[in-house]
Amino acid sequence: MKDQEEEKELIRAVARISRYTICIALVAVACIGILIFSLIHNGQTVSNTSRVKPATNTPTSTAGASAGNTQHAIPADTWKAPDDSTIPAGKPGEAIRYGRELIAHTAQYFGPKGSVATISNGMNCQNCHLDAGRRLFGNSYAGFISSYPKLSNRSGRVAQPAERIAECFERSLAGKTPDTSGKEVQAILAYMKWLGQKVKKGQKLFGSATGQLAYMENAADPEKGSKVYLMKCQSCHGANGEGVLAADKGTYTYPPLWGNHSYNDGAGMYRLTNFAGFVKNNMPFGATYQNPQLTDEEAWNVAAFVNSQPRPHKDQHRDWTNLNKKPIDFPFGPYIDSFSEKQHKFGPFKPINDAQKALTNKKS
Ligand code: HEC
Ligand code: HEC
Repeated sequence: MKDQEEEKELIRAVARISRYTICIALVAVACIGILIFSLIHNGQTVSNTSRVKPATNTPTSTAGASAGNTQHAIPADTWKAPDDSTIPAGKPGEAIRYGRELIAHTAQYFGPKGSVATISNGMNCQNCHLDAGRRLFGNSYAGFISSYPKLSNRSGRVAQPAERIAECFERSLAGKTPDTSGKEVQAILAYMKWLGQKVKKGQKLFGSATGQLAYMENAADPEKGSKVYLMKCQSCHGANGEGVLAADKGTYTYPPLWGNHSYNDGAGMYRLTNFAGFVKNNMPFGATYQNPQLTDEEAWNVAAFVNSQPRPHKDQHRDWTNLNKKPIDFPFGPYIDSFSEKQHKFGPFKPINDAQKALTNKKS
């Protein structure tokens, strides 16, 4: 009797163990399945984004949830860069490719250890003209060639496209102008022509600059911006905005935001509206117009912080001599209005805008 009982007990125990084993096995299979699925899925997203990232070894974006979950629509007829298959064969094609290479890896050719000349700060044009000027809201070059030669409100003269290219060497790359008739500038021009070949003069282009953010009620606050910098920028751009040099010590993996190797105070990025719009739509690296990571306020404030830090100075007393055309966020006077340089630098911009409208209307 007792033996039989024990035997039954044993059988029950064995049955229980096998039930558990089956359960555990099923759960394990499910887990492995989920793991494999997510691995494949991740693999896809990584290769999708790496296509638009620069060829530097960039870590994945530190960006969290999208700011305000803004869902921006992109119009169907938005400009797209021409396909590489449209690059002609032979010499003309070589020039276009060389031009693109110069935009993407400018420092290798013109930086402190440049192979062509050592006339710039070590930044690449692509640091601000993302994806070699093909990215929407990333300072794209789409409309550039069709709009030149153009009357420059900054210099008051009609500028040729090669001169405009040279200006970014002097200001954004805080260096010297390359020979505008030389092979390099001509190659950049060839690339720009190829890129903007379908754009007509005067054509309105969606997302061709950096995107203009709505003005804030208050002035942008460098103090608040320093906190944004610490949390969301410092990991790549460095505690002192110095960026991160690549192993060759002549080019940057992460470009500097201030200091001796950054853009000078005559550069487009030194103006708060340009900086705020660029950062909102492109930073932390990986953010896009459709998936921004900063609120507008964070973008304005971090712009105010970065542009309050030391950087090379450019003599600009001959810029914007027609005061009616001076941008409202150009932080060096004189102005047609009576607002301070400080307000022209940090805002609030709306009162300046209103005052200038009233003044220029009165004049005409
Ligand atoms: C620090 C950021 C930065 C870097 C680096 C930079 N640019 Fe720019 N660039 C800008 C901004 C911002 C603008 C638009 C505002 C302005 O006109 O100043 C601009 C405007 C331009 C324009 C005029 C576009 C148009 O449609 O009118 C050209 C051309 C240009 N850059 C070429 C270059 C070239 C070539 C290089 C590299 C030698 C370069 N940029 C490097 C920020 C930069
Ligand atoms: C994950 C790394 C990363 C983070 C975080 C990041 N950036 Fe960048 N940033 C980059 C890279 C890489 C580039 C150059 C892009 C290229 O060359 O294609 C860049 C370019 C820039 C530029 C234009 C080039 C220059 O050096 O002036 C500005 C301005 C900028 N970042 C500002 C910011 C600000 C402000 C933040 C924080 C809100 C931020 N970035 C966060 C990686 C990062």
